[in-house]
Amino acid sequence: MSEWTLKKLLDWTSRYFSEAHLEQPRLAAEILLAHVLGCPRIDLYVRFDSCPPPDALSRFRELVKRAAAQEPVAYLTGRAHFFSLEFEVTPAVLIPRPETEILVAAAIDFCRHETRRPTVDVLDLCTGSGCVAVAIASQVVEVELVASDRSKAALEIARRNIEKHDLQARISVCQSDLFDALGQAPKAVFDLIVANPPYIARGDYEQLPANVRREPDEALLAGEDGLEIQRRIAAGAGDFLADDGCLLVETAYDQADRVTALFQQAGTLKAIQTIKDNLGHQRVVKARKA
Ligand SMILES: C[S@@+](CC[C@H](N)C(=O)[O-])C[C@H]1O[C@@H](n2cnc3c(N)ncnc32)[C@H](O)[C@@H]1O
Repeated sequence: MSEWTLKKLLDWTSRYFSEAHLEQPRLAAEILLAHVLGCPRIDLYVRFDSCPPPDALSRFRELVKRAAAQEPVAYLTGRAHFFSLEFEVTPAVLIPRPETEILVAAAIDFCRHETRRPTVDVLDLCTGSGCVAVAIASQVVEVELVASDRSKAALEIARRNIEKHDLQARISVCQSDLFDALGQAPKAVFDLIVANPPYIARGDYEQLPANVRREPDEALLAGEDGLEIQRRIAAGAGDFLADDGCLLVETAYDQADRVTALFQQAGTLKAIQTIKDNLGHQRVVKARKA
């Protein structure tokens, strides 16, 4: 083959990724090429006929091999986008998903329109990369957050993302198995608790795409029925919510009814409702402290 121009590289790699069953093969090729060239994706199109320097080409080839072997592109570049913000990600954290933006939008809505507190105290359980906490704090100035996770490695990434967005004055981190160690957090009663917990049932794990199974098990798996963590959140949230405080929890596209039932059984929650995603699936269950 003659010279590898950016156009030829992108066309070849898109086909190769397509054969390797990657989702969005063209986008994956563009992200990796822009990454090794250190330029925005859009610049690839104005440099279509140029050839990359040899060191960038060999780094690109290496990353293409790894992506075709199902390593998530976000782990290869170390970056993901969520709520129009950029986050650092490593294999210690879940890659933020667009559906979680529904949870963030509901949280922002609560902070802006459903509470009169001058400062809204928010707990982000299962924070992972910290994307939910950072997205809320970047949109609402009058919030103070505790971002917590059981995983020390995840919290390290959350801490870096909080600093990257210069939010360390308003978001503190706390290592905790759900509510267990929250006594050590700066606050222990919250106007709003948000969570995107693990919710995959053990039996469904093998059906997940190979690249999703590269993400941490503890970010995905939630016992036999996928509701282990939701059950504990439903049972414990009442003790950590202020009067008329709000709980918002993301669920799998087919779990909202069962999570609603868990909230009803808790006895400490009222006004339970669900919020749909753009595809019409009930994605977030919302409740107020009874
Ligand atoms: C689905 S990920 C969500 C990460 C991030 N909030 C997001 O939306 O991208 C779930 C997170 O819950 C954490 N986790 C799992 N079990 C936990 C537990 N018992 N207590 C606290 N965190 C837990 C995992 O470490 C993981 O970071």
